[in-house]
Amino acid sequence: VTFHLAPAGRAAVSVTVADGMSVMRAAVTNAVPGIIGECGGQAMCATCHVLVREEFLDRLAPAGADEVDMLEFSVSGRDEARSRLGCQIHLGPALPALEVDIPASQY
Ligand code: FES
Repeated sequence: VTFHLAPAGRAAVSVTVADGMSVMRAAVTNAVPGIIGECGGQAMCATCHVLVREEFLDRLAPAGADEVDMLEFSVSGRDEARSRLGCQIHLGPALPALEVDIPASQY
């Protein structure tokens, strides 16, 4: 999975992770700034908020109602099209690569 950190100008961080790992866990494990994962992946904190790049949006299942509710409380607000909780996206054979931006207000 490749993380592109916002704002533009910061170097992108590329990390490779094991199948099944969430975007949140991948970021925390690799000390990617802006992703905290305070609730441990329970969709209850929104400190794992990411903005999925448009070319990857159709590879993801839609966000559930709980995920959408939590995103509404995120520090930077929800982008209806691109906002997701990193803990609810899992990398693996069905999603072998992903690019996300991390809202600038999270770091
Ligand atoms: Fe808390 Fe994702 S880690 S909502």
